[in-house]
Amino acid sequence: KQQGLVDRFGRVATDLRISLIDKCNLRCTYCMPADGMAWLPKSKLMTAEEVRRIVMIGVRDLGVRELRLTGGEPLVRVDLVDIIAAIRQDHPELPISLTTNAVGLEKKAEALAAAGLSRINVSLDTLHASTFKELARRDQLNATLDGVAAAHAAGLTPIKINAVLMRGVNDHEAPDLLDWALQRGYELRFIEQMPLDADHGWRKENMVTSAEIRESLASRFTLSPDPRARDGAPAERFQVARASDPGRVEGIVGIIASVTEPFCTDCRRTRITAEGRIMACLFSRNETDLLDLLRSDATDEDVANRWREAMWGKPRAHGMDHTGLGDDDFVQPDRSMSAIGG
Ligand code: GTP
Ligand code: 5AD
Ligand code: SF4
Repeated sequence: KQQGLVDRFGRVATDLRISLIDKCNLRCTYCMPADGMAWLPKSKLMTAEEVRRIVMIGVRDLGVRELRLTGGEPLVRVDLVDIIAAIRQDHPELPISLTTNAVGLEKKAEALAAAGLSRINVSLDTLHASTFKELARRDQLNATLDGVAAAHAAGLTPIKINAVLMRGVNDHEAPDLLDWALQRGYELRFIEQMPLDADHGWRKENMVTSAEIRESLASRFTLSPDPRARDGAPAERFQVARASDPGRVEGIVGIIASVTEPFCTDCRRTRITAEGRIMACLFSRNETDLLDLLRSDATDEDVANRWREAMWGKPRAHGMDHTGLGDDDFVQPDRSMSAIGG
């Protein structure tokens, strides 16, 4: 009865990611189609109360110790501040973080901090307005930059920046992005692009790999492994010094190498989509509906049991690594990243 979210391979999910909405105000090529996305009708989105109940069951009954809210773009959800305030009221000590593109955050950062948000991760792939417009298909670089600065001022720290590098688009920007982040005290993480784009255009040979990223950074920086424990985190972290002054550590950079160096064996994640379905893995092709239970007269125990069962079936690995760890039969999920939440 007291058992947490354990799977057949002995992993225990303590890290809950909930998507609050499938909509986004940008259209990043690696995550969404240019147009034609069919949004969930409001009646199919989890309500604030349903989200609150899921978090309660997760934390109280299933051993969840950390919460991350995602989207789509979570700032698009009009009741975001209320959702966070309610969860914070229930769980004074729970770390609550947000993954966001920061557009519009300038106006909301203070309220989010006051409601009890702990920290944010921000997607930012380029420092050039024209490249931003090409990649995100919207002209919003300044809104993002202003949003991050406001979050910093509001104390939503430590701030992490997520950058996906795309060959021929922004891959030459790696050292500039790192300079920018170091100057502001943000932890930048470079992410290998995963096959979760809407157009199924991902090709392994086009992906900018962890090894390439490190090589590109070496033109300006020296990286050495961060001695702190990785603790199931997707990012491998490095201490960064300037090549011209290798003795002085200026900050931390991370690389999230989901494709070339998968971390599935240490995965501690469980996910709920905006329409209340459990995804045991980011790449799950079967999902388990919780919303029907929440909208019936099911008890919290019924909900917890279905959640446990879903996680028991978590696949060992995503299978796209060809290392023998997975089933080597990777099939891209129908959902694009925006409909999972990252
Ligand atoms: P921190 O707790 O701050 O380290 O957050 P995070 O890095 O786990 O979350 P974030 O939402 O910032 O995601 C960063 C990148 O990691 C995104 O590209 C996610 O899709 C990816 N990511 C997050 N969780 C997983 C996972 O379980 N598996 C894989 N393969 N990628 C993941
Ligand atoms: N591959 C890797 N990371 C992605 N993200 C979105 N789509 C992809 C993808 N196809 C990242 C964004 C965001 C986080 C939630 O996921 O940069 O920061
Ligand atoms: Fe976990 Fe699936 Fe991500 Fe692997 S791909 S780390 S199993 S969520």
